[in-house]
Formats: sequence, C-alpha cells, structure tokens
Amino acid sequence: MGFFKNIYQWLFRSLANQLLVTYISLVTIALFAVSIWALFMIKSESINDLRNSLEVEAVNLALEIDNDLALDSEKSRNRIKMAVDRHANKLGVSITVVNDDGHVLADSGGGPGSSLTPSGENISNQSEINDALAGVVGIYERKSNKTNSNWFYIAYPVRAAGHTTGVIRVGVPLTDIERRLNNDLYVFLKIILATGVVTTLISLWMAKRVNRPVKEMSAMARNIALSGDMSEFVPVGRRDEIGELGLSFNQMIGRLREQERLRQEFIANASHELKTPTMAIGSVVEALQAGAGEDPVLRPQFLTSLERLVDRQTSLLRDLLDISRLDGGLEDDWHDDVNIVQVINDAVEQLRPQAIKKEVELINNDGIEDKPESATIRGNALQLQRAIVNILTNAVNYTPAAGTVAVTARLAGNERIAIKVHDNGVGIDSSDLPHIFERFYRADKARTRASGGTGLGLAITREIVARHHGTIEVESVFGRGSTFTIFLPASPKSV
Ligand SMILES: Nc1ncnc2c1ncn2[C@@H]1O[C@H](COP(=O)(O)OP(=O)(O)O)[C@@H](O)[C@H]1O
Ligand SMILES: [Mg+2]
Repeated sequence: MGFFKNIYQWLFRSLANQLLVTYISLVTIALFAVSIWALFMIKSESINDLRNSLEVEAVNLALEIDNDLALDSEKSRNRIKMAVDRHANKLGVSITVVNDDGHVLADSGGGPGSSLTPSGENISNQSEINDALAGVVGIYERKSNKTNSNWFYIAYPVRAAGHTTGVIRVGVPLTDIERRLNNDLYVFLKIILATGVVTTLISLWMAKRVNRPVKEMSAMARNIALSGDMSEFVPVGRRDEIGELGLSFNQMIGRLREQERLRQEFIANASHELKTPTMAIGSVVEALQAGAGEDPVLRPQFLTSLERLVDRQTSLLRDLLDISRLDGGLEDDWHDDVNIVQVINDAVEQLRPQAIKKEVELINNDGIEDKPESATIRGNALQLQRAIVNILTNAVNYTPAAGTVAVTARLAGNERIAIKVHDNGVGIDSSDLPHIFERFYRADKARTRASGGTGLGLAITREIVARHHGTIEVESVFGRGSTFTIFLPASPKSV
C-alpha cells in the first residue's frame, strides 16, 4: 500500500511528472502499435513471396513429370526421383511427390528432421497433401518435432485428363524469415527504447522549464504573504503563458507597492497635519498659564484662537475618519432611493450662513423641475450631501466677497444627472488642476489653511461619487473661477 501511495503522490503532486508519464505512455503505446502492425505486414509479405516462388517451382516440376506420374512404372519412378533431386538441390528446398492415393513416390529428403520419407509410405493424412489430392493447392505451416523450426509447405496437385494424378509438395524451413522478423523486432524495440529515453529527457527538460518559474513565483507569493516583503520582481524572459503569468504577477507586486507607498504617505501627511495645530494649542495654553489668562485684553483673543485650532483639529479628524471609512468599504446603506433635489437644497442651506458671512451670493437653480420623477438616485443621502457640501464649501471659500456661487441640477444624456457648481472665484492654476483630487493636495497651502481646509474635501467627494457609480469633472480658469460637475446615474422610480 505504501508503495502505491508514494507513486500516487509522486505523480499528482507534480505537474512535471504528470506530463512525463503521459508523454512516455503515449509514445510507447503508439510505437508498439506501429511495430506490431509492421511486423505482421512484413511476415505476410514474405510468406506471400515464398508461396509464389514455391508454386512456380511446383508447376515447373509438374510439367516435367506429369507423364511419368501417369505411367507409374519402375522407369518412370526413377525419372521422377531424379527430377525431384535435381530440383530440390538446385533450389535448396525439400520436395516430395506422392501418387494419386497419397503414397510417396519420391522424396528429396532435407525435410523436417532431414530424414527421407520412405517410398511407399502413405502421407495422405497430412493436411496439405489431403487438400492437394482433393484438387486444391494446399498450403500449411507446421512445426517440425525434431529441429523445432517451422516449415512452410505448398502442395500442388498434378492433373491429367480431368483428374489428379499425383501431388508435388515443396517445403522450406521458415528459419530465414523468422530470423529476419526477430532482427526487425529487435530494431523496433531499440527504436522504442531510444525514443523513450529521448522523450523522457525532453519532457524532463520541458517540465523543468515550466516548473522552475512557477515554483519561483509561488515561493515569492508565499514570501509576500508571510513577511510582506515586496522588494523583488519575478524575472520575465519569456513570451508564453508563463511569461504572461510573470508579468501579471509583477503588475500585482507593483500595484501592492504603490498602495503601500500611498498608505505610508497618507499616514505621514495625516500625522503632520495633526501635529501642527496640536503644537499651536500647546503654546496657547502655555501662554494662558503664563499670565495671559489674567489679561482682560489677551484672554478673549487667546481663547478665540484656541477655539479655532480645536475646530480645525475636529474637522481634520472628521475628514480622516470619513476617508478611512470610505477606504474600508463597509458601513452605511448605499441602496436608498435618494431625491437628489432635496439633497442639493439641504447642502445649499447648510452653506448659506457661511456664504452670507463671506458676502458671496449663493444661487440655487434647483433644476430638474421639468422631470422631478427622474431626480432619484440609488445610494446614500447623507454621503451625497457630504459630497456636494465639500464642493460648495470650496466654492464659497475660494470666492472673494461680492462673488457668486451657482448650483444647477439637470438631466444629462445616458440617464445621468449633472450637478454643476459654478463660482467666479480665484480659479485653479492648470498645473494644480490634475492634482486637486489627491489627498492633502492644496493649490495654495497658506490660503487654504487659513480658510480651514484639510486638503481632503475633494478626495472624499470623489470617493463618494465613485461609490455611486458617478464621475466628477472640473474646469477652471485661474483668476476667473471654477466649475465642478458631478455626474450620477439616475435611477427612475419604477412605480
Ligand atoms: N472652487 C475652487 N476654487 C479654487 N480652488 C479650488 C476650488 N476647489 C478646490 N480648489 C483647490 O483644490 C484644493 C483641494 O481642495 P480640497 O480637497 O477641498 O481641500 P481644501 O481642504 O484645501 O479645500 C484646494 O486646496 C484648492 O487649492
Ligand atoms: Mg475643501
């Protein structure tokens, strides 16, 4: 049992061994089949040739002795005996002639056992003689008991005046043909063996070629899984499927590295952002303790800046929490039917006090009046409001007093709803434009810190929009204003 189990494991734990066994079996079976067929063909061809030439000899002899056969006298028997010996000697075959009832008239000897069949003996019981006496050419292959070799006989009926007057039997040992067949068999076996060896070598080599890179990759994957070490790429020097696998593997490593890099960068940025206000809070508290707390003029000033710093810290923490929750992918219900007009109105009202304070005009063109039933979106109302509030906050923040911020919602093509927030504020430099959706990216650090921005607003918005299968676009002219457009798939109520 143990032995079979070992073989089973050797075979099915390795692709290479499976290939090897399959190849060798196929090649061997195919070669064996071809060899057997070929040997069979060679033998039947040879026997056929032999039979033809023996038959010719029998006919020749028959022409010579048919008269004597009919005569059946002492003289005629002697002539027959001489003719038989002459033919047998010339051709190296054994010839026997019998009369019409199966008695031996002449025998050249040299037959099985090389002993002469005595004249007068009745051999009509031998199959080929029997056939020939009945008038057909008798053909038989028989093993000689004495020499243990196979003999081939052809017995030819000699006919005169419509009846059989005797039989000429010609026999040869098959040793030559058998020797030839044996030789051929050896040659075939050698070919099979050699092919087997070559096949084994080739499939071992192939298996190595296939196995090595696969093993390398699986070792690397295991290493990454265990230690997180992604310092190496797999070497890819091939254009086949394994090369492809290697490329995909490397792409995956590249992707993981990039994610790891972004994660570390995010943590570094977040810590830095948190550190600045925290240290400022520390200094204000120190100043208050050192006596500023007693000063009626300084005290309210310090407390105000303390409040602002804590606010900033709070909004930073809120954004960080939001983004990590969005990254986590869990949480909340994203499958409510949301009335987007309602969401936009809520967002605008949320920003109203800030706009008034900054003296920025905030216009809500609350659109889609024509088709209010299409204003439904499948998703999460609070998150969508958050996304729009972030855009509106920027628009109000980055638009100076007396500017205008306008919000419109309309149906766009492809069953989409377009929410457009337009301002005529400071605008965004074209070199910053591709980056503003990145985490912590700010076009103008000093100004945005002062305005309370965390650099995460647009990143959060983009994430929320993506989770609603939407897209966001921005157009901006530096110094003249910006337009942000959110496209969301409309989900018309089925009722
Ligand atoms: N409406 C806008 N007008 C001008 N600049 C904008 C506008 N919206 C975004 N920006 C630029 O994009 C940057 C990223 O925006 P955001 O992610 O909301 O961060 P922040 O916290 O700085 O507002 C901002 O710092 C600002 O430079
Ligand atoms: Mg912002």
